[in-house]
Amino acid sequence: MANLISPDLNEYVLAHCTPADDVLRDLAAETRDAFPDAAGMQISHDEGDLLGMLVRLCGAQYAVEVGVFTGYSAICIARGLGKGGRLVACDVSEEWTSVARRYWVRAAVDELIDLRLAPAIDTLRALPREPEIDFAFIDADKTGYPAYYEELVPRIRPGGLIVLDNVLREGRVLFGTDRSDQAIRDVNDRIVADDRVESVMLPVRDGVTLARKLG
Ligand SMILES: C[S@@+](CC[C@H](N)C(=O)[O-])C[C@H]1O[C@@H](n2cnc3c(N)ncnc32)[C@H](O)[C@@H]1O
Repeated sequence: MANLISPDLNEYVLAHCTPADDVLRDLAAETRDAFPDAAGMQISHDEGDLLGMLVRLCGAQYAVEVGVFTGYSAICIARGLGKGGRLVACDVSEEWTSVARRYWVRAAVDELIDLRLAPAIDTLRALPREPEIDFAFIDADKTGYPAYYEELVPRIRPGGLIVLDNVLREGRVLFGTDRSDQAIRDVNDRIVADDRVESVMLPVRDGVTLARKLG
């Protein structure tokens, strides 16, 4: 899990966010035990609190997530949705999302979540091209970010929010040369030049951009 602040300050930050409940704590622990090499992909507790708060501030009812893994961020988003809310959750891994499904039941959000196991770009393109999504979170393969963003913008309602994780690439956004670094630079440059949205890049964890649809 990337972090731009010292370990002590990190502990302090975590101690000053609304604490995780047993479901999220158990999910984080099981993810670390079952998938030690991949567990760093899971969002942190403070980022989960941020997502939930943003969803509530938007008054979101319909959300889309690109990149589920074992389901931590999906729980945070789903819990923030209003009554009758719906989260379309995109991933390609049956193995990782089978853990997610168990925890969604424990968190009592399983009925809100529509998991689509397919390349996210196909799932997004199949959604109606209508501005009806209130909130979207992008946290999957980095090379896909520019295309995910472009598919989501026309489908987000005015005032709705797209949140992108890992926009700093642990600093590699400044000089990195691999395809993921280049794709993140591309999407970051696209967003700041995009007159359909207003945006802010936050140095939270590995960098989080909020792009709010205008209109
Ligand atoms: C960083 S993890 C997501 C972490 C998750 N948001 C959480 O809170 O734990 C990235 C996820 O993207 C998924 N992924 C990678 N490429 C994908 C693609 N082309 N379409 C859909 N999902 C993809 C991976 O299977 C992985 O579960």
